[in-house]
Amino acid sequence: MKKNLNQNLINLIEYYNLINANFLLSNNPIKRTIENTTVAFAGNKSEKLDKLKRKIQSIKNCDLKKNATNLVFGDGNINSKIMLIGEGPGANEDKEGKPFVGRAGKLLDKMLEAIKLDRTKVYISNVVNYRPPSNRKPSDEEIERYLPHLKDHIQIINPKILVLLGSTALNALIGNEVVISKARGKWIQKEIGDTKLWIIASFHPAFLMRQPEQKKLAWLDLKMIREKSKILKI
Ligand code: URA
Repeated sequence: MKKNLNQNLINLIEYYNLINANFLLSNNPIKRTIENTTVAFAGNKSEKLDKLKRKIQSIKNCDLKKNATNLVFGDGNINSKIMLIGEGPGANEDKEGKPFVGRAGKLLDKMLEAIKLDRTKVYISNVVNYRPPSNRKPSDEEIERYLPHLKDHIQIINPKILVLLGSTALNALIGNEVVISKARGKWIQKEIGDTKLWIIASFHPAFLMRQPEQKKLAWLDLKMIREKSKILKI
């Protein structure tokens, strides 16, 4: 009887080894929460990005997607070490399927040019990938829904510097307790999955169009990005 029991145990262990399971005799606590999404996409960077794009395209029952014309995924250099995150596509972006191509995008281009950057040197995406109707802010549920994809997106691009443009990007990635007027212009070090980031928030270009007197603060943030790029040898 005892011998049978031992043999059964040995068989069971062999079976678990065979299926490559290491949890049977592990003392490690079971992790019930997953803080960051896993980038379970195989292949090189563009293949991973294609897979992520298809995953977002397959989202079901989403009002943003239902009302939008195009998916707005990303633009720029996928190998850049500087990634910028906006809020969500507007009408022009929805039409063209590219982020920041409207008036706010033109201002963003000028801001980047001031620190000798352009879209061949940075990568740009948004918190949500479909246009919120009437350019409203994405709801908390919508942000929650797109956040795992944004985190995957960041991990695939693997930037060193992440620039959060406006409160939606700031709150989505740093938390709801921070406000853009206080959090802007300060470096935060954070890991998203395996990606170690220097994160800085600044004002959204659409906000700067409404409040041009805040551009001087945005300029300070841009200079900080320029300095950090030099230090990190980007
Ligand atoms: N505003 C954003 O936040 N993103 C865009 O792509 C365009 C305008």
